[in-house]
Amino acid sequence: NGYQNSEEKFTGFNDELQKEVDVITKDLTISKEILQKITNHFVSELEKGLSKKGGNIPMIPGWVLDFPTGNETGDYLAIDLGGTNLRVVLVKLRGNRKFDTVSSKYSLPDNIRTATADELFTFIADCLKKFVEQEYPNGVSEPLPLGFTFSYPASQNSITEGILQRWTKGFDIKGMEGKDVVPMLQDAIKHFHVPIEVVALINDTTGTLVASMYTDSETKMGLIFGTGCNGAYYDVVGAIPKLEGRVDTDVNDDTPMAINCEYGAFDNEHLVLPRTKYDIQIDEESPRPGQQSNEKMMSGYYLGEVLRLILLDLASKGLILKDQDLENLKKPFVLDTSFPAQVEEDPFEHLPNVKELVKKFLNLDVNLEERYVIRRLAELIGERSSRLSICGIAAICKKRGYKTAHCAADGSVYNKYPGFKERAAKALRDLFEWSDDQEDPIIIVPAEDGSGAGAAIIAALTQARLKKGLS
Ligand code: GLC
Repeated sequence: NGYQNSEEKFTGFNDELQKEVDVITKDLTISKEILQKITNHFVSELEKGLSKKGGNIPMIPGWVLDFPTGNETGDYLAIDLGGTNLRVVLVKLRGNRKFDTVSSKYSLPDNIRTATADELFTFIADCLKKFVEQEYPNGVSEPLPLGFTFSYPASQNSITEGILQRWTKGFDIKGMEGKDVVPMLQDAIKHFHVPIEVVALINDTTGTLVASMYTDSETKMGLIFGTGCNGAYYDVVGAIPKLEGRVDTDVNDDTPMAINCEYGAFDNEHLVLPRTKYDIQIDEESPRPGQQSNEKMMSGYYLGEVLRLILLDLASKGLILKDQDLENLKKPFVLDTSFPAQVEEDPFEHLPNVKELVKKFLNLDVNLEERYVIRRLAELIGERSSRLSICGIAAICKKRGYKTAHCAADGSVYNKYPGFKERAAKALRDLFEWSDDQEDPIIIVPAEDGSGAGAAIIAALTQARLKKGLS
């Protein structure tokens, strides 16, 4: 059983297992042709989302109607409600494309994903109170402007509004869908007597776009590859038919408008994404079946879960983990993304780290062949995720006619999943068929802090508009 026996060498899977691995490999492989097919459909869905009728992808206008110049200045607060933490940031925009930040992280109470709205906002207001008291011990003369990064699909008729369309990423707090979350936050803040005014509600991708553009004018989109996946870019008002009658007189067809695509919802109709039975199971067992089809196949929240379901399937066929107690493996979401990530990172031939990880996460003992199968599956899942991730990028470039672009990316999968960056770059090369001696014209680059600096810059742009008497 394993690497203690240094004589043992892995020489391949037994025939039965190999057959299954072949099937799974085929199902999880995203060829160049599939990438191209997905991307072409993606372009038409981006257009559809902007039409009056709408489509699968929400394409939410974010009411950021200016490009940042890099010269915005001032002090702003920003909060970011992520999946595991609440981050509170004080951003000092210094102009000249520079800014400083001070931030604190507060871990979300257990089970917050299914708590009540009241519990959630009380928690946020309490954290804000602590943060402001700590940063401004002598109090403040005027309320501090705050940009609220809310990383869920929220419709906006203005930048100070965010009507939650539906929860994503496993959140399921009752009574919030269909409601504006800004007054909920503002009321809680008032209740705690914190001197703060919420001036903008921002999606994390929009924040990433604007923050990255503040420091790099070549930025064409802001992307998150994390717990969820999504992208934002600037379109022009004239290309957004559904805005008709909803814009001010100072706005014309060429006015830029940041769009939060919410493309995690791409292909909810299941026309092009090659879903496996495992993806279908994840969807059906999720709190929101039929939604976020694209996201469910590639984002961090689901990668470990796909692996778990495949392992369970192989075990139920008697191909691995024979006579072992599968109790832990049967627990939904017992494997978070750090599991496949670390599995891929084991540098040793006998995969001793995989053995330990399986013990730690699942309390199972795995032999050499099982370790290799887990490794192979993690590679397939990681590779699939990174290849699917670039279709949104390619589609936005095609839609906007960008031949070159800096695509600013953030999120745990982008930053931490081994090989993600290389695989994504390779997928873009495959898709666009760039030649090897050419430098990649469209590149994914690390983003600036979107939910901190980005939210602050957007708050500053909003205040500048208000001063000019625009809404
Ligand atoms: C989910 C959310 C979206 C967010 C993304 C990344 O897709 O719906 O708003 O941008 O996750 O955090």
